[in-house]
Amino acid sequence: MTRISLFTTLFAAVNYAVAAPWKGEVKKVDGATYQCKCYSDNSCWPTNADWIPLNKTVGGALQVAIPLGAPCHTSSENSTVNLYSEAACAEIKASWLNEQWLTDHPIASLWPLTPCTRGFYGRYVILAKTREHIKAGIDFARERNLRFGSLIINTHSFKDVKFLKTYSGPGNWTGSAAVVGAGVQGRELFRQAFAQKPPVVIVGGECPTVGWAGGYIQGGGHGPLTSIYGMGADSVLSFEAVTVDGEYVTADAKENPDLFWALKGGGPSTFAVVVSITVKTFPEIPTAGTIININNTHTNDSAVLANHYVDNGILHIAPLVGPKMDERKLNEPNQNSIVGGRLFTRKDMNDDADEVADAIIFASSNPTKDRIGFSVGHIVDPGHGVPYADNAINDKWRKSSSFVITNVIMSGLESWEEKKQLEDVQTNVIGKRFRDAGPDGATLLKIRNKWDPKGVLYTKTTPGTEDWDVLDQGTKLCKKAA
Ligand SMILES: Cc1cc2nc3c(=O)[nH]c(=O)nc-3n(C[C@H](O)[C@H](O)[C@H](O)COP(=O)(O)OP(=O)(O)OC[C@H]3O[C@@H](n4cnc5c(N)ncnc54)[C@H](O)[C@@H]3O)c2cc1C
Ligand SMILES: *[C@@H]1O[C@H](CO)[C@@H](O)[C@H](O)[C@H]1NC(C)=O
Ligand SMILES: *[C@@H]1O[C@H](CO)[C@@H](O)[C@H](O)[C@H]1NC(C)=O
Ligand SMILES: *[C@@H]1O[C@H](CO)[C@@H](O)[C@H](O)[C@H]1NC(C)=O
Ligand SMILES: *[C@@H]1O[C@H](CO)[C@@H](O)[C@H](O)[C@H]1NC(C)=O
Ligand SMILES: *[C@@H]1O[C@H](CO)[C@@H](O)[C@H](O)[C@H]1NC(C)=O
Repeated sequence: MTRISLFTTLFAAVNYAVAAPWKGEVKKVDGATYQCKCYSDNSCWPTNADWIPLNKTVGGALQVAIPLGAPCHTSSENSTVNLYSEAACAEIKASWLNEQWLTDHPIASLWPLTPCTRGFYGRYVILAKTREHIKAGIDFARERNLRFGSLIINTHSFKDVKFLKTYSGPGNWTGSAAVVGAGVQGRELFRQAFAQKPPVVIVGGECPTVGWAGGYIQGGGHGPLTSIYGMGADSVLSFEAVTVDGEYVTADAKENPDLFWALKGGGPSTFAVVVSITVKTFPEIPTAGTIININNTHTNDSAVLANHYVDNGILHIAPLVGPKMDERKLNEPNQNSIVGGRLFTRKDMNDDADEVADAIIFASSNPTKDRIGFSVGHIVDPGHGVPYADNAINDKWRKSSSFVITNVIMSGLESWEEKKQLEDVQTNVIGKRFRDAGPDGATLLKIRNKWDPKGVLYTKTTPGTEDWDVLDQGTKLCKKAA
């Protein structure tokens, strides 16, 4: 035996002795070995008796996640409890399309579809009221190797907003600010800001129910004010968060600056659970809005990209908001005519405009005419008039010229195979066209590996999850073993 192979053997033996056995299922799929988190069909899934102390720690805030539509059914998946109630069902049906009502329900998802299954809902949800509840959930999930998502920590109740006339913490800002709880939604934040004397504005998104301090900021955050004040995350001064180790931390320019940097646009559910955010507020500015309707009695010009939608009925853009504009300015013809796919920078548009245009036209009729790749364009170029903000926002936002969301329309009634196929079209067919037209770079892997080395948190599209896959028809989160 040579020295080297002896060393290798020893090293392997040490590794073997040190590595704790995997808590959860180990399975082979297509030749690869996967280690899965614990699910309800595994012996490592907590017993009923295990959940009781957790419920005690969180003051009774733990609930079995019962689907919103349960009162409309006499039986559900594997429950013997009959929750049917004519009155409750009538209210559910009447409210089914009300976004605020949906997001106020602990386990509802926005835009639920008709078929009555549990879908990807978690089994249990903690309706957290305090940061101690969040910590208890994180500790429980980490220790037992549960995926967040089978145990949901719901931060919707963190509704406190405190407005400060003068901010005095780190971050080179002495103007006004607000401390915003993790459960505050766009509309309520805007209303509270507007109710201040004098009124202030905060950079937020367009949809009233988007959780401002949750996915919005951690995804970067674009909206009507971004061209003036930068991305939502650019205005952030400080985060209060709970780490995957259950530690309470402040992340700002002084304390944990790497986490501060990463939480500002580096992706939600990736670095820590956010409890509250301190953000700059700005004086109110005059803003005009309008609604544009173009229908097929107005044009049949096939050279107009939007005509595809007109062909299919009606193009409806609402509302169109112009900060620092008035009605006259808004009605002037303007040159913001570029609609793009994905985030296209000015450079992409200069170098590859044809490719970009082709990709959008391609998306607008794929995979089929009746499942059009719907496109929404936002012109951004965020914060060109304000000082440069250093944070984790994808560099493309800084230089962006246009932003498009593509959707492949689904009824939700498709078979699993068809859904997978449409997903493939979205990601690998339409998505590929868009990526080819405007490629990108940069990762946050290093910071991710420091703050969550074991993958307690997971979001498919954020760094550090490359080795993870969701197997068994999207139900089990598993890591590809080395
Ligand atoms: C109708 C609609 C309109 C939208 N408009 C805009 C827009 O104008 N501008 C824009 O920038 N975006 C917009 N978005 C995108 C939106 O910002 C993202 O979907 C965002 O992730 C929503 O965050 P949420 O907290 O409300 O959602 P959730 O679904 O609750 O959470 C999304 C992700 O954030 C994580 N997360 C939630 N809370 C926390 C927390 N406290 N700490 C850590 N992670 C957390 C979740 O685990 C999840 O991974 C829109 C989305 C929709 C559906
Ligand atoms: C549903 O069934 C699974 C598997 O039989 C079981 O482990 C789980 O506890 C059940 N869930 C509920 C909410 O009854
Ligand atoms: C947790 O405790 C509360 C209050 O006692 C109770 O209503 C709830 O059903 C419990 N949750 C679970 C999962 O048992
Ligand atoms: C602080 O902000 C001022 C005004 O916006 C800016 O000119 C200056 O460069 C900033 N200083 C630092 C250290 O970022
Ligand atoms: C389309 O526009 C015409 C002319 O403005 C109007 O009369 C008609 O009602 C519109 N159709 C729809 C579906 O809105
Ligand atoms: C579009 O409209 C013009 C004039 O209204 C008409 O001449 C032309 O045939 C139409 N084209 C199509 C493709 O319907």
